[in-house]
Amino acid sequence: MKIMKPFLIIGAAVGFLQGNVIAEDVPPNGLAQTPPMGWNSWNTFGEKVSDEVVRDVADKFLELGLKELGYEYVVIDDHWEGGRDANGHLIPNPKKFPQGMKALADYIHSKGLKFGIYSDASAKTCGGEVASYEHEADDANTFAGWGVDFLKYDYCGAPDELQECIRRYTTMGKTLRATGRPILFSICEWGPRSPWLWARKAGGNMWRISFDVGDFWDSPHNAYSCIGILAAVDASVNHEKHAGPGGWNDPDMLVVGLGNTGNIKGGGCNSAEYQTQMSMWCILAAPLMIGCDIRNMTDDTKRILSNPEVIAVDQDKLGKQGHRVARTASTDVWKKNLTGGALAVALLNREDHEMTITANWKDMKLKDGANFAVRDLWARADLGNFTGSYSAKVGPHATILVKLTPVK
Ligand code: GLA
Repeated sequence: MKIMKPFLIIGAAVGFLQGNVIAEDVPPNGLAQTPPMGWNSWNTFGEKVSDEVVRDVADKFLELGLKELGYEYVVIDDHWEGGRDANGHLIPNPKKFPQGMKALADYIHSKGLKFGIYSDASAKTCGGEVASYEHEADDANTFAGWGVDFLKYDYCGAPDELQECIRRYTTMGKTLRATGRPILFSICEWGPRSPWLWARKAGGNMWRISFDVGDFWDSPHNAYSCIGILAAVDASVNHEKHAGPGGWNDPDMLVVGLGNTGNIKGGGCNSAEYQTQMSMWCILAAPLMIGCDIRNMTDDTKRILSNPEVIAVDQDKLGKQGHRVARTASTDVWKKNLTGGALAVALLNREDHEMTITANWKDMKLKDGANFAVRDLWARADLGNFTGSYSAKVGPHATILVKLTPVK
């Protein structure tokens, strides 16, 4: 009998805890070098998604300049499914998608955009539709044949157990690679099994770190089992080292602009709160998946989703997720390193009244004497040069996002 050396035993135990020994590495697909950007049908349309809606959305990506800003993936979430044909191949719901998925993908591709779809690692999706467990190879080939570029893969109805979860995602990750088509793999396990530790190895390009974000500011574990914007921000703490080119922590889709009219629940948010979500998702290098009905956006929603300087924080090529550097009961300061020695800083006010928030160089591990040019990215205004700290008055539930560039 072979005797294992103690360090091997400890190494194996740590690996087990991290899920490392279980996941067989799926080679990278080269996608998602910056956080994926696009639109997903779920937050607004839910069961009412259709061919017509998706084509309209693709048209609007171009008309509204969203494509130019980097929004690229048009993703159909749950409720597109129509069961399986006599040969066991997935088919779309013929009432909602009468022209079939290949024609829809071709249309989206003709606009220079990418096409995403949804399934689940069990027999049924969260919405009770047919899903891909034990049909992985067949479904992946069907998706590749349709021209799918993005698969969101949910976990409803699947076992709680960690190893089985990793096995199911790894199977789909490998199977997607085997199709030969580059398909971005979006893992939607919601966080209970710490996917940040294993999802990249399972072939994931993004992985949900928390439950669905509802259309509200902060009421975790409410009757709708969604979490608020603030709770998702808090769930993001300490995961930054797992994000980077090829794989990103995903605190869920944007609720910006839903205005309590969407499929997902909540009482709606005000403009400051939606702007906080956008600011924080960019600091977090999160995927930016719009959830509102972009065919009917208000000017304010468009403003929040379309600020190129804010989006540039999210898409910065260094690929660093930001992290929290200071926290009081009422306020947060977050920083994200950017290329060229610059950094983005978010001042977040949790209170119902205005607060003055200070970003101290010391908290951000900057030299006290370092001189930075500060630019307000929402106001798109240069604020001057600062040394030691930068303070601002921040409105209720608002976030100020500034860029600090070293002054030579
Ligand atoms: C889960 C996911 C959501 C959405 C629905 C669809 O709840 O977390 O993002 O995909 O399923 O049924």
